[in-house]
Amino acid sequence: MTEKFDVTVVGGGPGGYVAAIKAARLGGKVALVEKDRLGGTCLNRGCIPTKAMVKSAALWREMQKAADFGIEVTGMRVNFSKVLARKAAIVDTLVAGIETLMKRNKITVFSGIGQVSQPGKVTVLGEDGSEQDIVTSKIIVATGSTMARIPVSGLDMPGILTSDSILDLKEVPESLLIIGGGVIGVEFASIFSTFGTQVTVVEMLPGILPQVDEEITRRLRPVFKKAGINVLTGAKVKEVRELPDGGYEATVETARGEQSVTSSKVLLAAGRVPNMEGIDTGRLGLEVDKGAIVVDERMQTNVAGIYAVGDVTGGSMLAHVASFEGIVAAENAMGKETVVDYGTVPNCIFCYPEVAGVGLTEKEARERGLDIVKSSFPFTANGKALTLGETTGTVKLIAEKASGRIIGGHIMGPHATDLIAEIALAIKAGLTAKDVAETIHAHPTLAENVMEAAHGLLDKPLHLA
Ligand code: NAI
Repeated sequence: MTEKFDVTVVGGGPGGYVAAIKAARLGGKVALVEKDRLGGTCLNRGCIPTKAMVKSAALWREMQKAADFGIEVTGMRVNFSKVLARKAAIVDTLVAGIETLMKRNKITVFSGIGQVSQPGKVTVLGEDGSEQDIVTSKIIVATGSTMARIPVSGLDMPGILTSDSILDLKEVPESLLIIGGGVIGVEFASIFSTFGTQVTVVEMLPGILPQVDEEITRRLRPVFKKAGINVLTGAKVKEVRELPDGGYEATVETARGEQSVTSSKVLLAAGRVPNMEGIDTGRLGLEVDKGAIVVDERMQTNVAGIYAVGDVTGGSMLAHVASFEGIVAAENAMGKETVVDYGTVPNCIFCYPEVAGVGLTEKEARERGLDIVKSSFPFTANGKALTLGETTGTVKLIAEKASGRIIGGHIMGPHATDLIAEIALAIKAGLTAKDVAETIHAHPTLAENVMEAAHGLLDKPLHLA
């Protein structure tokens, strides 16, 4: 008799594998189909490998300042192949961890491309050409995203780097042109400029990191400049040509006219698009908008029994959003009634210094016509930051004037990506500036900046003259 599954998840990234675990924990018999290694873009080609490189870069940066800390080192050098080996080992460990989680939760993993063309069935196409049908009550599509291609002459040359292939560069390039000043562009700009690469970022919008609070990006620009990162905004790459003796030359259109940028490598980082591989939208009659699967607040598509989560649904293409949606989809697929709440999605950018935000930016709050108060507390006035030698940046809080309720938090500085969690919780729980200010924060910690910024919303930060 054919085995029948309660839930079959297509795609084993942070959206899919988390959905599989949740469905299994709710008592479901669960299958997961993955064509590559478990972990998806996040683990294999995204969040984790880049953060391993971010750490190597951070260590190199710190070592260069070691003498300031009373540590004298000679003979330092970057061994880039070891940077890559460490990154690969971390990825392997985490992938093995997910494999274990699948086994422990009794999830059956099928290797191949999952094809969905009708509710109740997923066909697995194996690498060897085999075909296997999975009979299932519910399907969760979690097929992720792929790099967006842009119609610029020369960008289809095989040597043009993507966020995948840049992770396998064998050596640090002398110079790098990055097309796109979004999250991927900015993170790689920080990593490679630290290792000594001459980096140019070309962004077509007026500013880099368009989703970040403008006050934060304004503060970030001079720091990038000091780090030697050349940022061209309001600029577009018109064409990229290969040079006869290696490297590339790009024609960039800026407000001040055309300019030519030569570089040994070019990275395309102009966004990502939903990956619909294996999803027969036509036969399913699946509703799609701008290439993304349309879902309701329960992560249910317009086809009964089919859910979709993560990058394939468009929206914020973030691992933590995908996992969150995976839980919601699994719960609904298993008969519960859960809805997503996107009110508190932290946005973390692992450049140097780190940037993180949650809730409304100042501009968004003003556009909504809200009467707000804001307050910033700089890391220069934080004892812990001084001991770390990391004083660049600030914590900014935004609250509703009448209620004092915190509605936005934006950080640039050391451990911004960790510190943002407190503000996310404050917003989610509807806490006020008073609640945060009156919470005892340990001393000396970077988190005191959040408390000080909250005092600033009420009156004035304590440690500011
Ligand atoms: P993105 O959407 O963040 O940024 C792409 C940038 O490229 C935009 O600012 C856009 O204006 C610009 N652009 C587009 N076409 C251009 C052109 N022809 N010339 C110049 N600039 C152009 O996309 P990105 O950075 O590729 O990242 C993809 C996805 O992965 C995003 O959704 C991002 O949130 C996610 N991601 C998240 C990370 C994190 O949470 N730390 C890390 C890396 C990626």
